[in-house]
Amino acid sequence: MRNFQSSDELALPSASLAARQHGGPDALGVPRFDFSTNSNACGPCPMALAAVQSADPTRYPDASYTALKQQLADFHGVAARRVVLAGSASEFIFRITAWQAQQSAGQGRVHLPPHSYGDYAHAAKAWGLAPTADVNAAQLVWACEPSSPLGQANEHWPSWLSHPGEGTVESPAVLATFRAGTAQLVLDCAYAPLRLSDAPSLSTSQLEQVWQLFSPNKALGLTGVRAAYAISPLGSGTAVHELERLCASWPVGAHGVALLQAWVVPGVQAWLSDSLHTLAEWKTRQIKLLQRAGWMALPSEANFFCARPPGGDLTAQLQSLRAHGIKLRDAASFGLPGHVRLGVLAPEAQDALIKAWALSTPSGRNPSPPGTNFLVKPAQADTTPNPQTK
Ligand SMILES: Cc1ncc(COP(=O)(O)O)c(C=O)c1O
Repeated sequence: MRNFQSSDELALPSASLAARQHGGPDALGVPRFDFSTNSNACGPCPMALAAVQSADPTRYPDASYTALKQQLADFHGVAARRVVLAGSASEFIFRITAWQAQQSAGQGRVHLPPHSYGDYAHAAKAWGLAPTADVNAAQLVWACEPSSPLGQANEHWPSWLSHPGEGTVESPAVLATFRAGTAQLVLDCAYAPLRLSDAPSLSTSQLEQVWQLFSPNKALGLTGVRAAYAISPLGSGTAVHELERLCASWPVGAHGVALLQAWVVPGVQAWLSDSLHTLAEWKTRQIKLLQRAGWMALPSEANFFCARPPGGDLTAQLQSLRAHGIKLRDAASFGLPGHVRLGVLAPEAQDALIKAWALSTPSGRNPSPPGTNFLVKPAQADTTPNPQTK
């Protein structure tokens, strides 16, 4: 398997829009069963949808978003001055990369997880940040938990990130050390609200040293609404000010404001919390069905996972599925050739996938008996399944 971290000289993809690959609707329209995004399949959240639908598009939003910032700040228990609004998580990714490139005056280095959301690399390429495999040498470090596409914990943390108990307001010396270091870590929390198992890696005090980037449209099943926000690290008022300067006016429109305001409403959070139980059940069923059909599912803590279908021409198989109205995300662009990423969908969609798979591949017609395929770790994904990992 290709490992981006094997060399310090890492290649970044082309930054053109055409080179970017995403899940979701495509030239063929909206797939009947779309496994290719990580959007909450229990969605859309009815309360959030109603809020978006009743947004008033006839006026500008408050250009300073005073009320919205306060609501998000209260939700996270932080000061409103730490909230940075963004047109989307993707927009923030590009903006903070641009800012870091300015700060480091052409000498900046970026560290990406081995398999990660493509916009981190696209933005780095566009703004001339050089990739480095050494997390401690980077001025801009990206982390994502649960990660995409794997849905796993982040592995590489910089050593300037203090241990639990340090880095709080009570330890200004530690804060000063990493502030002076000019390095920034952005923790992409796009799927944190969709975590189905295990726990986040960072303590509360560690979270205060990093940028936390939230994009609630996935958790609410409303990915067509573009709006996101970041919570800045403690003591980064200047950075917040400079990021605001780099932003166009009104980055979030009326519908985005409505989505973010709905996000903090207790009833919406209760809906999300209920949906996680359903997703966990669906996920167990989906993995079992795929394993019976000979697929190998990789471990994941989220409402999506990667899997390796049994041999054959994956591109042709995915095209055949797409012709049946079923879309999966080829994980090759994430550095996982031969694998796909699948969102967890409802049983009806799962059954349609299995049926269409049987039609699109000879091996799908002769599924292996249950129990002959095992969950494998990514490092083992290109090897024979290991019964020890069952
Ligand atoms: C890990 C991750 N971060 C960020 C984004 C982008 O989120 P947004 O819809 O807010 O641009 C995605 C979208 O797929 C993602 O997978």
